[in-house]
Amino acid sequence: MCGIIGYTGKGRAEKIMLDALELLEYRGYDSAGIALLKGGSAQIVKGTGRVRDLRKLCADQKPEGTCGIGHTRWATHGGVCDANAHPHRFGHITLIHNGIIENYRELTEKYGLEGRLKSETDSEVAAAVLEHFYTGDPYSAIRRTVLKLKGTFALAIMFDDQPDKIFAVRNVSPIVAAVTPGGAILSSDVAAIVPYTAVYFVLPEFHVACLKPDGIEMYDLSGDREEIEWLKVDWDVTRSGKGGYPFYMEKEIMEQPQVIEETIRPRIKDNMPDFSSEGIPDKVFSACQRICVIACGTAMHAGLVGKSLIQAMIGIHVDVVMASEFMYNDPVVDKDTLVIAISQSGETIDTLEALKFARKCGSPSISIVNVKGASIARESEYVIYTNAGPEIAVASTKAYTTQLAVLYLVTARMAVARGLWGSEKIRNFIKELLRVPEVMKKILDTKDEIHRLAGTILNARDVFMIGRGLDYSILLEGSLKLKEVSYIHSEAYASGELKHGTIALITEDTPVIAVVTQEKLKSKELSNIREVQSRGARVLLLIKENETLDEGEKWSCIYRLPQMEDPFMVMPASIVLQLIAYYVSLDKGLDVDKPRNLAKVVTVE
Ligand code: G6P
Repeated sequence: MCGIIGYTGKGRAEKIMLDALELLEYRGYDSAGIALLKGGSAQIVKGTGRVRDLRKLCADQKPEGTCGIGHTRWATHGGVCDANAHPHRFGHITLIHNGIIENYRELTEKYGLEGRLKSETDSEVAAAVLEHFYTGDPYSAIRRTVLKLKGTFALAIMFDDQPDKIFAVRNVSPIVAAVTPGGAILSSDVAAIVPYTAVYFVLPEFHVACLKPDGIEMYDLSGDREEIEWLKVDWDVTRSGKGGYPFYMEKEIMEQPQVIEETIRPRIKDNMPDFSSEGIPDKVFSACQRICVIACGTAMHAGLVGKSLIQAMIGIHVDVVMASEFMYNDPVVDKDTLVIAISQSGETIDTLEALKFARKCGSPSISIVNVKGASIARESEYVIYTNAGPEIAVASTKAYTTQLAVLYLVTARMAVARGLWGSEKIRNFIKELLRVPEVMKKILDTKDEIHRLAGTILNARDVFMIGRGLDYSILLEGSLKLKEVSYIHSEAYASGELKHGTIALITEDTPVIAVVTQEKLKSKELSNIREVQSRGARVLLLIKENETLDEGEKWSCIYRLPQMEDPFMVMPASIVLQLIAYYVSLDKGLDVDKPRNLAKVVTVE
């Protein structure tokens, strides 16, 4: 949450930062600000609203400089108001912060800050503590401050008397940095860096980076200089724009055939699933007695699909635990439990904390992460990267389906490692997985039809989604997508549960989306659909293309999904649900990519 940027070099820092903040805005977008260091002081321009509002403020106030820090906020401590927007300034210190300083009250008291602060933020308290310790040596002030802070933080700091320098330090919350042809840059993630360079590094926790116009130095907290471990962005940097689409969400939905191909191809050798490039030994898949998936939001929904696949095909018990609840449910994980952490950003704090706990309990762990070098990837024993490329829209689409693609491969490798399937069965499974991109393309070719279907729920207040088994799992995600981008209240129900209460809400014309893709559940699912139809529901049915329906059945809306083997029907059905949510949001004229109150990377508990 919150995007941070810092730049020092030959370029115009204000311009570079405003462009970068636009790329980071998906991390939070209730306020934005920049500060430029010049002539022994800092000029700050900040306020509530989006980066476009900040641009207007800058056009009026004309800040200029070659060294600066900038921030786009998702409020945690203190409401959304100009004073709480970052950067914050206290004495000779100007600072931006992502994270939460938990002991800000104690620090306020200890350093006598009551009445001396201009904002209600924990971040300004950190600036004040730095000022307290600053006697001309930035490293010493940072070290002494950091030792006093409890909580998570990514801090970018400018000292009035340290011209052209930006200092950065972090605990948990991410910071990446790079040297560009014109200077040095730091950011919360690589999205803001790739326009300048593909080479970057992840600042290790409790290390101090010093950015100067001609390079970056890194020190540990005791002041010893350390070597920087450089990484390379391995996705096509031209992919980071909107590519002619009105919103990132549409572009990212359309990219799915390609990114799924790129996620599965390198992991299939001789028609067999293969994780040798990731260095995952088969023992990890064969020795575990149970699996525990930890994840949040969409990633957790991917985990639910994984659970259905693995339990049905491998026959071992899988729990899917919301990472935010993990610690409060007295988790039972041990050396026989394979923990799979799923996360697009690799930074979700709840998932990270749950993973750390599981590792302490001796559990082997694999993470499925999209962002290279992210904290969750580094914290887990093994990592499988989804090759989805940068996902910018807050609502996750291509990250979800690439997570699913990896889970299919994990299921297949588990079957190999445990000697469960014959080679023909494995080859057939892989063959079907390889069909996914082509099937998805078929669906994307019918997007106008899906747009028309989305029109049937455009004015709905509530939408119910019903299905069983795997269909229910994907509807949980379909319903989340609709809620987050269209603001229509939507709930997914296991259709067998309807008559235990929820059916009371079904009245004349209530919109219901039903998904029927699993042969073994078809007759039960169709009976449940009839139950809601006979109470007046208007049903939009997603069903396989060659499935026969009784003559005389009335379907106000139906979408025929291209045929795949049942376990793979999740893929085509998901893409239809994503497009429905997208078109509803688009036709309502909403800001599809940045739904209210949300942020893409959730680094607070
Ligand atoms: C936020 C995003 C969701 C995402 C969830 C988990 O809530 O808005 O789209 O599913 O975090 O994020 P992760 O990066 O761990 O997948």
